[in-house]
Amino acid sequence: MIVLGIETSCDDTALAFYSPGEGVVGELTANQLIHETYGGVVPEVASRAHMKNLLPVFNALLSKSGLSVREIDGIGVSNGPGLIGSLLVGVSFAKALAFSLDRPIVGVHHIEAHILSNELGGEEFRTPAVVLVVSGGHTCLYKMDAVGRYELVGNTRDDAAGEAFDKIAKLLGLGFPGGPVIEEAAKTGNAAAVDFPRAMMRQENFEFSFSGLKTAVRMYVEGQAALTDEMTADVAASAQEAIVDALVKKTIACAMSYHVRHVYLAGGVAANGRLREKLALECGRFDITYHAPLLRYCTDNGAMIACTASKHLAHGKDDKLDLDVFTRGPVVSWL
Ligand code: KG4
Ligand code: ZN
Repeated sequence: MIVLGIETSCDDTALAFYSPGEGVVGELTANQLIHETYGGVVPEVASRAHMKNLLPVFNALLSKSGLSVREIDGIGVSNGPGLIGSLLVGVSFAKALAFSLDRPIVGVHHIEAHILSNELGGEEFRTPAVVLVVSGGHTCLYKMDAVGRYELVGNTRDDAAGEAFDKIAKLLGLGFPGGPVIEEAAKTGNAAAVDFPRAMMRQENFEFSFSGLKTAVRMYVEGQAALTDEMTADVAASAQEAIVDALVKKTIACAMSYHVRHVYLAGGVAANGRLREKLALECGRFDITYHAPLLRYCTDNGAMIACTASKHLAHGKDDKLDLDVFTRGPVVSWL
């Protein structure tokens, strides 16, 4: 069975073919570099770029994979959460394809796909588990009893972790997206140089807050006459450490509280080396197994959509042409 996965929820036009037996059969992504000019994703620009990119990427993927359209057995498309215009482009394309080929189509929750991207390394998900989902728009903890059974148990009260990386990078004049450039700058910095706040750490819940950190960095930067490269590296390292500290402490506390022995990372920020290192270390200390997606599957990709869709299709789901898009909402259980 060959499943086509389509991801257009934000600024990447990402397509992939996935087969439950073979894994990823082919994948292709068009990144929209234009947003760098604006220092963030401009929704209208993103949806127009998806319209321009989608068909050429699809055709290039077919020839790269040596497949014909008729060999597609089912279609999965990210239908939310995300930018409404961008999602509509992907969903309309997927519906047209499903209709013309007379194949089933399933809407995939973007966050469920990030979670299941952990299986793209070839290992089956171990449950019950706690999953830390950290991306540009989300910072949440899910308790997962099985693939298909999810409970949202923690969330951010304000900014997402990826958003914090992006905004802090902007304050430091480091560019966009912020995560990779902060991580790079932090390599030569001292993580103990500035004692930035770690919000909500004393509270017995699994909530996060990153807007105070963003303000603290802004005040620190404004308080300096000029930022040398060395100071920038120290601020980047200290801010990264504050974000990672909060994420790791709450994730471990969550796993302990639910007596769960498996912890998973997911989402764009899961690519962060310091987060991976610290979470792995802390999991080890508490006898919890630690898992993270392969680096190339942390940020948005088509393979995670196709892989998730293959599970929905195997479960007999078909959303048909009624499929709609949505902008927000937690992952819904389907098992
Ligand atoms: O999952 P994703 O590709 O898109 C969303 O669904 O939001 O995540 C993008 C986010 C951005 O905020 C980006 O700065 C962050 O992931 N990110 C990172 C790293 N690579 C990407 N954050 C920290 N360290 C990284 N290496
Ligand atoms: Zn994402």
